[in-house]
Amino acid sequence: MKRIITYGTYDLFHYGHLRLLERAKNMGDYLIVAVSTDTFNAVKGKKCAYPYQQRAEIVKAIRYVDEVIPEECWEQKRDDIIRLKVDALVMGDDWEGKFDDLKDICEVIYLPRTSDISTTSIKLDVKNNH
Ligand code: CTP
Repeated sequence: MKRIITYGTYDLFHYGHLRLLERAKNMGDYLIVAVSTDTFNAVKGKKCAYPYQQRAEIVKAIRYVDEVIPEECWEQKRDDIIRLKVDALVMGDDWEGKFDDLKDICEVIYLPRTSDISTTSIKLDVKNNH
């Protein structure tokens, strides 16, 4: 069984998120999604519309997702991959090259982002139309 992990904030869950999770799942058999906690988002300078518990529940309800864990810091990936016996790390290509140092312990795959949609653009559209 091939185990996949991916990391992200998943605020205002949208079509680009769905497509990423579908493709990530299709790269293996078991998909783990590490969802950024509110504390970690504050470190990243991101402010979410939905709190962690709700973002995590929504992601967990997606049929491609087998397990959700919290993403609490940048440095946890190596430990997660070893502890959870992960075979491949899958990220959107906005992260291209950023996690290549993990290639010594698993496959690292960057998938093209779905064009013309992001949480940031949705927030801006809603703000500008109302
Ligand atoms: N993603 C994607 N296509 C998009 C948007 C996101 O494939 N159009 C992927 C990202 O590459 C990442 C995952 O979905 O692997 C979670 O992305 P996240 O950063 O939570 O979503 P964004 O919409 O990019 O949020 P923001 O605008 O806040 O950066």
